[in-house]
Amino acid sequence: RAQNQAQALALSDAMTRACDFYRGQLRSAPNAIEYLKRRGLTGEICARFGMGYAPGGWDNLRSVFPEYDALALVESGLVIDKVDEEGNRQKRYDRFRERIMFPIRNVKGQVIGFGGRVLDSGEPKYLNSPETPLFQKGLELYGLFEARQSIRDAGYVLVTEGYMDVVALAQLGFPQAVATLGTACTSTHVQKLLRQTDTVIFSFDGDKAGRKAARRALEACLPQVTDDKIIKFLFLPQEHDPDSFVRERGADAFDQEIHEAMPLSQFLLREVSAEHDLSEPEGRAHVQFDAKPLLQSMAPSALRLQIVRGLAGLTNSTPAEIEGLFELAKPVAV
Ligand code: UTP
Ligand code: MN
Ligand code: MN
Ligand code: MN
Ligand code: MN
Repeated sequence: RAQNQAQALALSDAMTRACDFYRGQLRSAPNAIEYLKRRGLTGEICARFGMGYAPGGWDNLRSVFPEYDALALVESGLVIDKVDEEGNRQKRYDRFRERIMFPIRNVKGQVIGFGGRVLDSGEPKYLNSPETPLFQKGLELYGLFEARQSIRDAGYVLVTEGYMDVVALAQLGFPQAVATLGTACTSTHVQKLLRQTDTVIFSFDGDKAGRKAARRALEACLPQVTDDKIIKFLFLPQEHDPDSFVRERGADAFDQEIHEAMPLSQFLLREVSAEHDLSEPEGRAHVQFDAKPLLQSMAPSALRLQIVRGLAGLTNSTPAEIEGLFELAKPVAV
């Protein structure tokens, strides 16, 4: 355990030093500054998120880490060891090159990973730190450290897909935004979100991937939602993500979208009924078939009862019939 702590400290120290280096490099990288300006970002907002630039070249981090070859830097993911077929180390090189750097902080504010964006249309668009003892992608929310006080002030958190969504929203008046780092929303994400606030508004991209992400978020929320929580889904036009929407349409329009966001109960009922013909018994049965696992994943609650009632109305059944058919657990008497 003491060894793990020492290792975590060394990792955290390496990440901080790299972050400072990337930040310094941004000041002398006109192409990177030009790119950020083109995307509408101010120097102030970039500084608030600790953004930086990893310049071109294979071993720039050598100047930051004199122990570049010896130190266990590979563990941090900042450098990569190229190995031959026998597994022998060939050479070591910097993972991040010619990328805008977004440091990912944990709730304590320590830098635990990075996302790096290409300036042009190269692949991959974002390169992320690999998983380390400090950084597990499915657990972290980008921007949570920066957003914490704003989430308290606003009374809700906005959950987006991407780095740029968080930074752009913060700049344009919505500092209560975080991102799931491109991975599906996990139950750990939901747990962390509900620990911060009682209202969560998911705002994913308007494209097909974003709608799929909303469905996954719904499934992650159902086992954890309680009657004192509000979970909503904001659906943007197909061609937009929160960043592009707020820049093109403005903060008032985005605020309007927030006010009109769809409650979880409505989203669930829409999800299960969208593709079926409610005018036919088979269609109504299929809606119930699709709703069953979702309702079964919920704890007994007033909200679940409301959803059961909604489903009963859609499918020409009674709530009691649905509860019986789905074998929904009754609340335990206390
Ligand atoms: P998007 O493709 O929607 O990118 O991916 P974006 O956030 O809108 O970025 P810009 O506006 O083009 O700069 C959403 C998120 O998925 C993850 C990143 O976290 C990204 O912000 N992602 C995407 C990756 O990790 N790698 C990729 O290659 C692409
Ligand atoms: Mn997308
Ligand atoms: Mn975008
Ligand atoms: Mn996007
Ligand atoms: Mn179906």
